[in-house]
Amino acid sequence: MAQTVVVVGAQWGDEGKGKVTNYLSEQADVVVRYQGGDNAGHTIKFNNVTHKLHLIPSGIFNTNVINVMGNGMVINPRSLVNEMRELQKRGYYCENLYISDRAHVILDYHQTLDGINEERLGEGQIGTTKKGIGPAYTDKAARIGIRMADFVSDDFYSALKNTLKLKNKELVSFGAKPIDVVKMYSEYMELADIIKPHVCDTITLLNDEIKKGKKVLFEGAQGALLDIDFGTYPYVTSSNSTSGGVTVGAGVGPKTIEEILGIYKAYATRVGSGAFPTEIKDNYISNYIREKGNEYGTTTKRPRRIGWFDAVAAKYSAMINGFTGMAVMLLDVLTGVDRIKICTSYYLDNQPYQTIPARIEDFEQCQPKYIELDGWTEDITNVKSFEELPENAKAYLQTLEELVGIPIVLFSVGPDRNQTIIQRKLFK
Ligand code: GDP
Ligand code: IMO
Ligand code: MG
Repeated sequence: MAQTVVVVGAQWGDEGKGKVTNYLSEQADVVVRYQGGDNAGHTIKFNNVTHKLHLIPSGIFNTNVINVMGNGMVINPRSLVNEMRELQKRGYYCENLYISDRAHVILDYHQTLDGINEERLGEGQIGTTKKGIGPAYTDKAARIGIRMADFVSDDFYSALKNTLKLKNKELVSFGAKPIDVVKMYSEYMELADIIKPHVCDTITLLNDEIKKGKKVLFEGAQGALLDIDFGTYPYVTSSNSTSGGVTVGAGVGPKTIEEILGIYKAYATRVGSGAFPTEIKDNYISNYIREKGNEYGTTTKRPRRIGWFDAVAAKYSAMINGFTGMAVMLLDVLTGVDRIKICTSYYLDNQPYQTIPARIEDFEQCQPKYIELDGWTEDITNVKSFEELPENAKAYLQTLEELVGIPIVLFSVGPDRNQTIIQRKLFK
């Protein structure tokens, strides 16, 4: 059993990471987000209340847990303050929230540029969440980003003034309005005052907690197939959402990581553009799954594209992340589907193909080869163990486990925290 556990989305996001993180956070001392920003939307349900988080780690509901927003994140101060206020209204005061002074800040022009970039791409648009994620990471790599430490310091005005010299030129060249530095500064100063008490050196904080033997949970956002390096480029997000992102996004050495849990949906979904070989083009099955699984984006409310479980992509994901276990979520949504398909191989140029090709043009040509399993009709939303599942549901889980080659450590039969069946304990 482990002291550190990473939760990673194994597909194209929205696999149920928030639910798993929140569940495991009951056993953790620290919960850490290490990449992404408010493009994420993590849903958590307990005591009949549903919470949606975009930026703040899913351990925030437990006042004993230290919640860290790591240096690898890009943080929109407006979204952050809104989310804090929303939580405060519900009785969660965020006193246990620590924000890395090295995290980059998403400002209004990043969002504007995200929209402009998408428009310029026309039919080839990525289908981003338009939260400014790509432009913020672009500035980070170009070394012109503003970080939390600057944002809450007295130097913010001069940093903003310098950056706006560049950004206004860019905005005007695309036909957008330039930004007035004084107006922008005064709006952001109010937000900086609220955020400042939470900003600190989270790297030292986190490593000290680990040295003390505290249990740490790392909460991934997005999914492995949206990773900037390993995903279906260019239809990806702009950060490393895979487990490797933990080390650079939180400031811990690679050997710190003990368990890596891959979160899989029992089927597959994708929001935004990009190839999706097992997609079920609009028919009664995809509509059934979308409605039953409430497959609409948590952040953008877009209907999610629905597909069969893709074991080729799932295995690739397990490989690049080094998963030590898998979680299978939303199994209940498949109840009532007569015959369930699983993709076991692709065909590319009439040859079997067992991984995700680098070129998106090749991935678009991959044809899935399926096996079919009989479904089940029994309600499984109240089962408490693997043994209570109908035989066909058991066979489905066993097939996923064999195909992906990773043991199932938990599965989930409903959105509520208590609809979680644990097969193996992760934390010490
Ligand atoms: P995340 O981004 O990975 O945290 O996932 P989202 O919250 O965006 O999407 C997952 C959705 O599935 C949310 O609406 C959850 O409440 C819901 N959910 C999670 N696990 C289950 C489950 O086992 N069954 C059902 N029916 N819904 C689930
Ligand atoms: P969670 O954490 C699903 C997708 C967008 C788009 C692509 C790039 O809830 O699983 P971006 O705004 O990041 O530049 O968009 O990535 N995307 C997600 N899809 N779940 C998410 O987060 C996502 N975050 C980004 O739809 O295709
Ligand atoms: Mg989500």
